[in-house]
Amino acid sequence: MKVINVGSLNLDHVYRVDRFLLPGETKSSQSYKITAGGKGLNQSIALAKAGATVYHGGVVGENCELLSQALRDAGVHLEHLMHLREPCGHAVIQVDDQGQNCILIYGGTNRMLSQQYIDDLLDHSCSDDIILVQNETNLVDYIIEQAARRGVRVAMNAAPMSDEVKGYPLEKLHWLIVNEIEGAQLAGKKNYGEIMDGLRAAYPQTAIALTLGSEGVWYRDQHQDIRLSACQISNLVDTTAAGDTFVGYFLESILSGARERDALVRASVASALAIERLGAAESIPLADEVRKALTSGRYTVEALA
Ligand SMILES: Nc1ncnc2c1ncn2[C@@H]1O[C@H](COP(=O)(O)OP(=O)(O)O)[C@@H](O)[C@H]1O
Ligand SMILES: [Mg+2]
Repeated sequence: MKVINVGSLNLDHVYRVDRFLLPGETKSSQSYKITAGGKGLNQSIALAKAGATVYHGGVVGENCELLSQALRDAGVHLEHLMHLREPCGHAVIQVDDQGQNCILIYGGTNRMLSQQYIDDLLDHSCSDDIILVQNETNLVDYIIEQAARRGVRVAMNAAPMSDEVKGYPLEKLHWLIVNEIEGAQLAGKKNYGEIMDGLRAAYPQTAIALTLGSEGVWYRDQHQDIRLSACQISNLVDTTAAGDTFVGYFLESILSGARERDALVRASVASALAIERLGAAESIPLADEVRKALTSGRYTVEALA
């Protein structure tokens, strides 16, 4: 039982500025740092920290050893990673004095998956595995089709949302995980109830997990409807990777045989810990920290009607 996550890897170049660049302007940045990012990478790391056996599928380009190292350090298996002598996926991020950011993304090797590569990768999958995708690579539709054809369960975190997602075979997913903004775009509705009803009607075989930030999560499948609050956070530091942590912990819990409700509670507590820390992948807690938080009684999740 394992997860094969076919996802993006990005080098994040982060520049601190007092204010964003204006057209035609040249300006010095106050500081610079480079970190490992991409929703795919973050979710592989979340899965591994949660305790899953996870293989990262995807393409790394030149001069981005940092990305493989970050995955390796977290215990993600890299045997199936493809290497190309092309520019890596990357993001140029300006962070201003107000803490706002302005992000330019270049897909690079994240957009260079081939059908042959996907076929070979899926040859390593078994019927009790989970294939995970986000929306930062090419061929997402092909991956869903081919995994479903082989009878392997597929989870999609449809982030970042784009118009193409509506054309993907989402009815073949086992789980669709979206936040409230992505859910609203996909369902064409605003109200949470309408989003949930719309997504379930459109994809009746697919379990929907609609994460609602500080308002918690709403889950519905063919058998159950679960609405949970978020944990009360005493010090909110940085919500980056909240959703990625949620996806990783939810799927690992399911893979380990947890009931959906328990998986949602564990994922909520893990996400709460992540937002109390600065950073993306590095803010994702370890399974042991989540276990302690769950038993401490300080991180509780209420059932909402
Ligand atoms: N302010 C918050 N307080 C407590 N928990 C939060 C908060 N923001 C997010 N979470 C937890 O993280 C989960 C995922 O966050 P969400 O913002 O919905 O995803 P994304 O990061 O994709 O936007 C939520 O379902 C919730 O459990
Ligand atoms: Mg959010």
